Amino acid sequence: MHEDIKKVLVTEDELRSIAKRLGEQITNDYKGKKLLVVGVLKGSIYFLTDLSRYIDLECKLDFIQASSYGSGTTSSGKIKIIKDISESDLSEFDVLLVEDILDTGNTLKYIVDMLGERKPKSVSIVTLLDKPSRRVADVKADYVGVDVPNEFVVGYGLDYNQYYRNLPYIGVLKEEVYS
Ligand code: IMP
Ligand code: MG
Repeated sequence: MHEDIKKVLVTEDELRSIAKRLGEQITNDYKGKKLLVVGVLKGSIYFLTDLSRYIDLECKLDFIQASSYGSGTTSSGKIKIIKDISESDLSEFDVLLVEDILDTGNTLKYIVDMLGERKPKSVSIVTLLDKPSRRVADVKADYVGVDVPNEFVVGYGLDYNQYYRNLPYIGVLKEEVYS
């Protein structure tokens, strides 16, 4: 697995301090609110479990899954919800979407619009990684771990063809692995 990585972009120590910094910020911002944390499957699971332990507030956790990428390294742009959250009425919740990476933004735009129809008090986005140069959809993260260049990255939840999610760091995949 490690031999397929060209370089490490975010180390385990850096990932831990990102989760701590954002978790503390979210704790401050959501005091007194009814928080629903929604992880976007599957890529966000490592980040969500680390981040949520730094959110020192009573909150619910749920998951949503959309299909976007198929098996390649570029987005298809066509989004479909595969797994929905349990709550259908969000009127008492402030929703925080947790994403692994914000790329074109198509996936999150679709999810934000869909959840918005259930009238939440607010919907915000926390993303571990941001590739702002690739943005197509009109969507912006409220909390960003770190900006990354336009390279295909894997690890800490992020996959290529469902592999590499369990790498403990974020790395750039060697081109020869997918070309
Ligand atoms: P978007 O709809 O283009 O913003 O794509 C979002 C999803 O594409 C992310 O949640 C990831 O699952 C996937 N994705 C985008 N860029 C990468 C990458 O560099 N590595 C792995 N997955 C990625
Ligand atoms: Mg994802």
